[in-house]
Amino acid sequence: MDWHDHYTQHLMTAEQAVKLISSGDRVVLGHACADPSALVAAMVANADAYENVEVLHMLPMGPSHYCDPGMEAHFRHNSAFAGGSTRRAINEARADFTPVFFSRFPDLIRKTLVPDVTMLHLSPPDAHGYCSYGLAVDYTKPAAEAARIVIAQVNPNMPRVLGDCMIHVTDLDAIVEVDDPVIELGPPTLTDVEMGIGQNCASLVNDGDTLQLGIGAIPDAVLRFLTGKKDLGIHSEMFSDGVVELIEQGVINNSKKTLHKGQCVATFLMGTRKLYDYVHDNPAVYMAPVDYTNNPVVIGANDNLVSINSCVQVDLQGQVVSSSAGLKQISAIGGQADFVRGAAMSRGGRAIMAFPSMAKGGISKVIPVIDPGSSVSTSREDVDYLVTEYGIAQLAGQTLRERARRIIAIAHPDARESLAAEYARRYGETL
Ligand code: COA
Repeated sequence: MDWHDHYTQHLMTAEQAVKLISSGDRVVLGHACADPSALVAAMVANADAYENVEVLHMLPMGPSHYCDPGMEAHFRHNSAFAGGSTRRAINEARADFTPVFFSRFPDLIRKTLVPDVTMLHLSPPDAHGYCSYGLAVDYTKPAAEAARIVIAQVNPNMPRVLGDCMIHVTDLDAIVEVDDPVIELGPPTLTDVEMGIGQNCASLVNDGDTLQLGIGAIPDAVLRFLTGKKDLGIHSEMFSDGVVELIEQGVINNSKKTLHKGQCVATFLMGTRKLYDYVHDNPAVYMAPVDYTNNPVVIGANDNLVSINSCVQVDLQGQVVSSSAGLKQISAIGGQADFVRGAAMSRGGRAIMAFPSMAKGGISKVIPVIDPGSSVSTSREDVDYLVTEYGIAQLAGQTLRERARRIIAIAHPDARESLAAEYARRYGETL
């Protein structure tokens, strides 16, 4: 059958499409800025028709109304990455959290958390009937391949991104055409603290390095200080507008990469229309599922891979907590450990953990021992550098005693006295 016929025959409204969901189903949603917002809104509006539908995804960028109080009988959210719209429901036990390395999420979806329904947000089909996954390939493509039913909203505003990120129209069970703006994430307003961290991190980046940049304000701050570098490359799980600006300035050209030379590699994208227009139909950007991009062996095939991620707490041994504060779930490990491990396998690779010395409310991020209930995301054996606005602590190869000294030196001055007292108690000497 010609794919155009399949397309026409499966075209329907969002209200009709969500009737394919049954009570008890597991529904996986397209990730982050590829949230299938029209389908999710129709599913929530149809809540009374469902009992106990599990809604599984990672970083939420939509409103997540299936988590609202009163929705418990209809939906149960299972989160693999807490975010602004889901964190409260998780911490009030109205939603669940499943710990998983980002690189291994596709495998869980294929074997353990097999979806009944996957809902997607795609670009329109090309001349051959292929739609692009656009802003999120990660677990979204594997979830579509594993699902019994695939429902897609097709949107001319979704960029057609290239790589291992296509689905054929004949693999879609329901197609809903929309012409809505795609979710955008504007650049953060950077504080002096973040600028200080950015400057310190940038001092650890050499010409010709390949970068992975994590989530949050700090990656943007780092990019601001890379303008004097040259021949940088990108192999990252995600990137945003700041990378496009450095491409335009000729700082990032991917010319020294030892894998995917000439291409920025990512598995999802979050930014503004500037980024989305840049990646549209652009062979200089390669998007692929996360079990490829975040496989530490693949990451390590890039020489001089520098990973830059952020965290919630660090103790005096250099253990890094990134997803929770005690039992309070804040985000998730995401791809942090994948890239820290990959950087360790990379010839000339370095793993940087960059964070403000104080969290909001004046809580020191450097603490003597990790809060009860917190889970270690990156082990003390894996960390190369800790960076705050007060400096750089190089940890690999350092004793516990020397680590503590270096970490206290980059803690907030208001926290140093109590940290020094702990040092004296632990090692019988004063700083
Ligand atoms: N104690 C208590 N709460 C803390 C805290 C601490 N030590 N550190 C952060 N928080 C809270 C903040 O107050 C904030 O709460 P709010 O949203 O209610 O205001 C929330 O955690 C987020 O902190 P913020 O500093 O705004 O986050 P960010 O956008 O700069 O991101 C991380 C920082 C750590 C959350 C983020 O980098 C992350 O999720 N990292 C782990 C995943 C990862 O590295 N992935 C790799 C690539 S994607």
